[in-house]
Amino acid sequence: MAKILPILASLSTIFFLILSLSTVLAIGEDHGFGRSLDRKLLGYKKEKLSHFQFYWHDILSGRNPSSVPVIKPPQNTSTFGFLTMIDNPLTLGPNMSSKLVGKAQGFYAGASQEEVSLLMVMNFAFIEGKYNGSTITVLGRNPVFHSVREMPVIGGSGLFRFSRGYAQAKTHTFDPKTGDAVVEYNVYVLHY
Ligand SMILES: *[C@@H]1O[C@H](CO)[C@@H](O)[C@H](O)[C@H]1NC(C)=O
Ligand SMILES: *[C@@H]1O[C@H](CO)[C@@H](O)[C@H](O)[C@H]1NC(C)=O
Ligand SMILES: *[C@@H]1O[C@H](CO)[C@@H](O)[C@H](O)[C@H]1NC(C)=O
Repeated sequence: MAKILPILASLSTIFFLILSLSTVLAIGEDHGFGRSLDRKLLGYKKEKLSHFQFYWHDILSGRNPSSVPVIKPPQNTSTFGFLTMIDNPLTLGPNMSSKLVGKAQGFYAGASQEEVSLLMVMNFAFIEGKYNGSTITVLGRNPVFHSVREMPVIGGSGLFRFSRGYAQAKTHTFDPKTGDAVVEYNVYVLHY
């Protein structure tokens, strides 16, 4: 019995060493340029859900359009293949004179041969309060004549690092003469 105890003790030491070594390997896999991190070390503790509501102004008319056609549709029978760059104001209310909270910067393009359906690629660049300088990135499908269109939020920067979620767009007003539109956006994002 007196002889077995030290052997057991050293066996358990070896076992413990192997166990802790494999734990280190599992947590801190090191490939030279990449390693896994505990998210808490960077201050990312608890994910929260936020809702934003604002109005998106697509201004084609006037001297200072925020929405500029870059590529015309190759065929005059459909909108398929056109591309428009935007730097559209985002305001709190539907009226353009209400508070500016940011801009939607990016482009939309005709992506359907059957209906008017757009590929939307844009960053919501906020300037309001603590969100000033932070962005939310949307990339999605926008069949503009549907009453509510849903597009994925695929990421963000600043306060929206690691974000994901969705945006719902609903046309508030559309002027068929000028092409100007005001669209209500409701955006739901998970972020830290
Ligand atoms: C479309 O383009 C064709 C060929 O250029 C032309 O003949 C036709 O009139 C155009 N249609 C419209 C509605 O502009
Ligand atoms: C927008 O606001 C301006 C100034 O406050 C006002 O004159 C105008 O009637 C408003 N437009 C709409 C559509 O409510
Ligand atoms: C947002 O941040 C920029 C750059 O830091 C600053 O110049 C600007 O005044 C800020 N805007 C608001 C509305 O706080």
